Amino acid sequence: MGRHLISIEDLSLRDIKKIFSLTEELKRSPESFQNALRGHKFALIFEKPSTRTWVSFETGIFQLGGSSVYLGPGDIKLGEREETRDVARVLDRYLSGVVMRTFAHETITEFQQYFTKPVINGLSDREHPCQALADYFTIQEHCGSASKPVLAYVGDGNNVLTSLVYLAARLGAVLRYATPKGLEPHPSVLASARKTALSTGARIEGSHKPADAVNGADAVYTDVWVSMGEEKIRDQKLKQFKGFQLNARLMAGAKKKALVMHCLPAHRGEEITEEIMEGKNSVVFDQAENRLHVQKAVMLFLMGS
Ligand code: CP
Ligand code: NVA
Repeated sequence: MGRHLISIEDLSLRDIKKIFSLTEELKRSPESFQNALRGHKFALIFEKPSTRTWVSFETGIFQLGGSSVYLGPGDIKLGEREETRDVARVLDRYLSGVVMRTFAHETITEFQQYFTKPVINGLSDREHPCQALADYFTIQEHCGSASKPVLAYVGDGNNVLTSLVYLAARLGAVLRYATPKGLEPHPSVLASARKTALSTGARIEGSHKPADAVNGADAVYTDVWVSMGEEKIRDQKLKQFKGFQLNARLMAGAKKKALVMHCLPAHRGEEITEEIMEGKNSVVFDQAENRLHVQKAVMLFLMGS
C-alpha cells in the first residue's frame, strides 16, 4: 500500500520536516523539479466546489511535468453511479495518484483501501491537511522556525481547525482556539492531539471566548461560518457565531503585528471585516500561494521522488 495524506495524523514530525524543507526548495527553484512527475497522471475527484485546491493541484502537477484530469460532482458520481471501491480499483489501473474533496471523510478512507497509490485529502468534513501544512509553513516563513508563536483560531471546530490541532500537536506548537458552544473539535481529535502533545511539548487550549484565545497572540486565524454543504443551516450557524467576528476590536487584544490568517474563501462582514482582511498584517494570500508549493512537496514526498 502506497503512502497517503488523508489526515495530518498520517505524518510523523520527521515527515513534516521533510515536506517543509522540500517546500522551501520547490519555492526557491521550481525549475529544478520540472520533470519530477513526468509520465504521471493524477485525478482530482471533487464533490464540492474549489478555487485554491483544484487550481493549485492542477498547476503543481503541471509544473512537475505530470498531468491531471478533473472529475467534478457531475462526472463519476462516486458511490452513486458506481460504488466507491469499484471506481478506486479501476482508477488504480490508470493513475499514479488522486486528490479527493468529499463530503464524508469515509469516502476517502474507503477509496484508499482499494487504491494502491497516493490518496491526498483535498478537504473532507473532518480534515483539510494540505491547508494546515500551508498555514504552518506560512507561519514559519513570517515568524521564523526557531520561535514558538502563539496561533489563535477563532471559528468553527470542523475540518480546518481539526487539521491545525493535529499539526500543532505534532510540531510542538502553541494553539489557542475559541469555538461557539457545540462546535468544538471532536473529543477524539483533542484526545489524540493531547496524547501527541505529551511528547512534543505542544500546548493546545480551547475555550468559547474569542478574546481569551486572541490575547497576546502572534497570529489570528479564522474560517467561514457556513461550510460547504451547510447552506441549509446557514441561519442557525450565523446565530451561533455571534461575537466571533475577526474585527479591529478583537484584533486589539493580539500582538500589534499579529498575522491575520484565513484559509479562504472569505466572507467579509461575517467571520472577518474588510479592514482586517485587507490590513497590512494579513497573510491570507501568502497562505493561498503556499498551498501550491506545499502540495508539490506532498506529492513528491508521497511518490518517494
Ligand atoms: N482554502 C481552500 O481549500 O480553498 P478552496 O475551497 O477554494 O479549494
Ligand atoms: N470549513 C470550510 C473550509 C473551506 C476551505 C468548508 O468546509 O467549507
